[in-house]
Amino acid sequence: MATRNAGSNGSGTGRAYAHIVGWGMAVPEAVLTNDDISAFVETDDTWIRERTGIRERRIAGEKESAATLGYNAARHALEVADILPVDLDLIVVATSTPEHVFPGTASLIQDWLGASRAGAFDLSAACSGFVYAIDMAAQSIRSGSMKTALVIGTETMSRVMDWQDRSTCILFGDGAGAVVLRASEQPGGVLASVLRSDGAGCDLLAIPTTSAREPGEHKLNKMYMAGSEVFKFATRVVDEGIRQCLDKAGLELDDISLIVPHQANQRILASVAKKLRLDINRFMSNVERYGNTSAASIPIALCEALEQKRIKPNDHIVLVGFGGGLTWAATVIQWVAPSDAEPARFNRQRRQFLYTFARWRRRITQLQRSLNNLLYRLNPRRRRRKTRSGRENDDLS
Ligand code: COA
Repeated sequence: MATRNAGSNGSGTGRAYAHIVGWGMAVPEAVLTNDDISAFVETDDTWIRERTGIRERRIAGEKESAATLGYNAARHALEVADILPVDLDLIVVATSTPEHVFPGTASLIQDWLGASRAGAFDLSAACSGFVYAIDMAAQSIRSGSMKTALVIGTETMSRVMDWQDRSTCILFGDGAGAVVLRASEQPGGVLASVLRSDGAGCDLLAIPTTSAREPGEHKLNKMYMAGSEVFKFATRVVDEGIRQCLDKAGLELDDISLIVPHQANQRILASVAKKLRLDINRFMSNVERYGNTSAASIPIALCEALEQKRIKPNDHIVLVGFGGGLTWAATVIQWVAPSDAEPARFNRQRRQFLYTFARWRRRITQLQRSLNNLLYRLNPRRRRRKTRSGRENDDLS
């Protein structure tokens, strides 16, 4: 297939375009309904549905994290793209809920996949993170510096919720989505993006950490939000971002068959649709079933739009995100990949082998390190050196 191998079936111009050739999602099994939430905070299903459109969300289990969900989504995306993890040049993970400040979640996933040739880093732009990451990866591909990139949006928002705060805990959920971008000479793919930030709104939506200057009255590692201010911000910037992005690509709203927006609140989508004078059906929405999964919401919605055959080859679609920072971002894509190509069985077996190999390599590397440390500590020559240097230090003091 043309888009799966760089330059295999292109126009022959030598110019690189960045196409999405694989996609996948992973959500936890556990479902938390509005009624479940009303058992521990004062709220009810009708209020939540009417104000947000949300009915339920997924909640990560003890053994799940942004890394494990992102890894599972990534494996699906590699399957659809039918490429091997060793073909990846770059892994970018957009997340606000990493397991560590460092190492990046991207490095954990890189190791688990056995993507031994890939660079890996996390990107922090809250709910706009996935669109930012798509643009970063697409730019790298278009510049010719790499051929294949994996972009993941993954979150465990349930871990940073204040479950006593009814105005925020009703909104968020957990999940992950991933796409593979690949260089091709065939025109299309990621055409143009607009990335924006207004840090003056940094106090409207945040998760203060232990290194915060002034957490104030807010709880460390828990999210707080000025809901109605964020609502006004979102309805102000989303339509503007879409229009600017289309201008950059030289396209009109009529050229766009589907908008895949960040899934925060159905009322925000309705307001944006009204401002753009577009039928709400031109917007992909699954907020009802997952709530707001921050950086994961756009790739999850994209996967479901493809599953529902709402995107066809040659369609132009827009991805648009907004959130903490404040940040917002839009990207316009000319879709090329068919949604139902079967991956080759031979590659499937090789991928499986590489995942198993990666697991054993990690165990053996860690065991080897422990053994080396033990041998070093038991080494009599090192002991003698240590005693001597201890004496020298005593002489100096
Ligand atoms: N159940 C019942 N009542 C609730 C409630 C809940 N879960 N949460 C808030 N309320 C109450 C408030 O206490 C307030 O009561 P009061 O008038 O007696 O003080 C009332 O509902 C209205 O609160 P308000 O915050 O003005 O409601 P709203 O219509 O703005 O809806 C949000 C609240 C959070 C749903 C809405 O502001 C929103 O969706 N904002 C955007 C959030 C978002 O998208 N964030 C992520 C961006 S990435």
